Amino acid sequence: MSTILHIDSSVRAISNSNPSHNSISKNIAHKFIESWRQTGVIDEYIYRDVGINPPSFITQDWIGAVFTAEHKRTEAQKQLLALSDTLINELVVADIIVISTPMYNYGMPAQLKAWFDQVIRVNKTFDFDLARGDFPLQPLLSGKTLIAIASCGEFGFDAPQVRANSNHLMPHLRTLSRYLGVEAMYEIVSEYQEFADSRHQASLKQAYQRAQILAQELAGDKKEEKGNSLTA
Ligand SMILES: Cc1cc2nc3c(=O)[nH]c(=O)nc-3n(C[C@H](O)[C@H](O)[C@H](O)COP(=O)(O)O)c2cc1C
Repeated sequence: MSTILHIDSSVRAISNSNPSHNSISKNIAHKFIESWRQTGVIDEYIYRDVGINPPSFITQDWIGAVFTAEHKRTEAQKQLLALSDTLINELVVADIIVISTPMYNYGMPAQLKAWFDQVIRVNKTFDFDLARGDFPLQPLLSGKTLIAIASCGEFGFDAPQVRANSNHLMPHLRTLSRYLGVEAMYEIVSEYQEFADSRHQASLKQAYQRAQILAQELAGDKKEEKGNSLTA
């Protein structure tokens, strides 16, 4: 069985009175979850829509609280870290992480970045030791799988395509995934939303198909793992 942490981050809703305003990234992510559910291997499902309910931005006092030893933290400092503690606990118990994101200004939405800033925290999700030389940061979590789902208005963001140098979304998510304890990452991207033409329809169709097939494959692996652990 598996615990899925699902983070959506578009400011658009999954369903609107005008369907052309529906979030594409959220709908693809929900297709993934729905396909996974059909296999019956979800233990726990944790959902956050940080696009609609964004985590607060970190502050200087927040950093001060993080760098204060746990047993010395004041009540006010504990309160400042309460949201971060909750979000980290949700991450810790998850073995599958689904993050859906729009591309805004060639990167992730500020709301999703706010979630990462609350979650990637020293002595919680990574530790820091200069004895490790030029690479002092080390993740504390491991063994997780990330499915990153994105929607873009333009196209050609994968190397060697035309806008590869402008892609600050997937490369950023790849870098950060390490600090979530991710060891396997799968990417699903729909492009061309702003062109609203047949290329967009084809890209969307492919993204939905990939979401469905990937969910079935990964859930199948989980079922197999469970079977092996029962027979071992
Ligand atoms: C504020 C804003 C900035 C955007 N910036 C980009 C961009 O830099 N590159 C791009 O390809 N599309 C851009 N888009 C288009 C979105 O990526 C596209 O509409 C996508 O489908 C949004 O995701 P959603 O459908 O899940 O809401 C932008 C849209 C908005 C609203």
